[in-house]
Amino acid sequence: MSKLWGGRFTKKTDQLVEEYTASIMFDKELAEEDIQGSLAHVTMLGKQGILPANDVDTIKDGLHAVLQKIKRGEIEFSISDEDIHMNIEKTLIEEIGPVGGKLHTGRSRNDQVATDMHLYLRKRVVEFVELLSKLQTALVEQAKANLDTILPGYTHLQRAQPILFAHHMMAYVSMFGRDIERLQDSYKRINMLPLGAGALAGTTFPIDRHFVASQLNFDRVYENSLDAVSDRDFILEFLSHASIIMAHLSRLSEELILWSSTEFRFVELDDAFCTGSSIMPQKKNPDVPELVRGKTGRVYGNLIGLLTVLKSLPLAYNKDMQEDKEGMFDTVRTLQGALSLFAPMIATMKVNKDQMRQAVNQDFSNATDIADFLVGKGLPFRQAHEVIGKTVLYCIQQGKYLLDLTLDEFKQFSSLFDERIYEVLQPEQVVNARNVYGGTARPQVEGAIGRAEQELVKTAAWTEEYAKRSQ
Ligand code: ARG
Repeated sequence: MSKLWGGRFTKKTDQLVEEYTASIMFDKELAEEDIQGSLAHVTMLGKQGILPANDVDTIKDGLHAVLQKIKRGEIEFSISDEDIHMNIEKTLIEEIGPVGGKLHTGRSRNDQVATDMHLYLRKRVVEFVELLSKLQTALVEQAKANLDTILPGYTHLQRAQPILFAHHMMAYVSMFGRDIERLQDSYKRINMLPLGAGALAGTTFPIDRHFVASQLNFDRVYENSLDAVSDRDFILEFLSHASIIMAHLSRLSEELILWSSTEFRFVELDDAFCTGSSIMPQKKNPDVPELVRGKTGRVYGNLIGLLTVLKSLPLAYNKDMQEDKEGMFDTVRTLQGALSLFAPMIATMKVNKDQMRQAVNQDFSNATDIADFLVGKGLPFRQAHEVIGKTVLYCIQQGKYLLDLTLDEFKQFSSLFDERIYEVLQPEQVVNARNVYGGTARPQVEGAIGRAEQELVKTAAWTEEYAKRSQ
């Protein structure tokens, strides 16, 4: 069979042009969505009396048969049929004869491809919410197991104030929680039906777009036909959200890599998630977080790539828009890989409590607390800061930490010091003194864990409901 659009042409397409313009190599991933959309479309054509019932039945049976053949790997897609839409239509016509050619009535590939992308992405969004919640669960479990593990908190990568390791884990739970919220919010913009927009202006056939929308569980129909076929905002939004998720994973990766080093030894990743060196027998490399950190680049690249494709594109469809797919598929795969590995990697990570504690004992991360102590005695904070700065300098010169100083030594810097200072300086005290909402004191972190667990229950309910809606 010749090209489905061959009528107007007098020459065969140049071979190189065929290869250059085809998208079947990658858009075959949309086969299922394409058939799903076609089934809804042809059902509507029947309901509206645009096609007779027996044609509709034949086409539907044919589409089901084509889908089964694709699933069994029996169909060899062809570059000369350009993309998944025409490959499927051609296979359908081969399967059921010329009646298959009625399927494309009142439809264009422009509204068809957009519909496929909406169907595809809404499923992915639900899967990513679920993967993120699994990662959150692993982080929450680590937090619960480390409610008494204290490590130095850092700013500028300099030891700042001691915190609970649980608090550190819960920071990531919050970050991934925002990611979940963003994805959930984007669902309403993904879950819109472009079909019925035709090539750009609508169609002359008396179609029922709202019926197609309800068949496909879309909440809304695009208002404007030009917008319907030109819009790729929903993909941009997904790529942006994916980029932010990767930024979060990359920050966590960086911490895991640092913490796994001999210099820190705060955590040890499970052997199953590390690899060795081909030359240095002693090495155990944190390849997974390194690669996640590295792959963040391509996810950002895919976002910038599509933003650039869309910049200056006149309405409505332009072939440039075919470039929306590879980056999106690549981002989906990259994110799936990273999130699927991170949850079990966090769950199996060994936390080196003693090493963290030793780090806390050998730093000045309790300095703010003695400043606060002096403030409690009536000294203005700015002066207290100066006094403690001098005290710390003295310690450094003497090779001591604050807890090593005698009361007399303290008193050299301020007469306001008394015995209670030794209690104030204890790491547990320092941590638990920060008993404000969102702070690192144990009761606050326990509260945060409880709220996160409630959120996880809500996310699970959302995932279950939206997985059904998105089928
Ligand atoms: N393969 C095309 C794409 O992905 C499908 C739409 C083609 N439409 C057209 N008028 N050439 O964008």
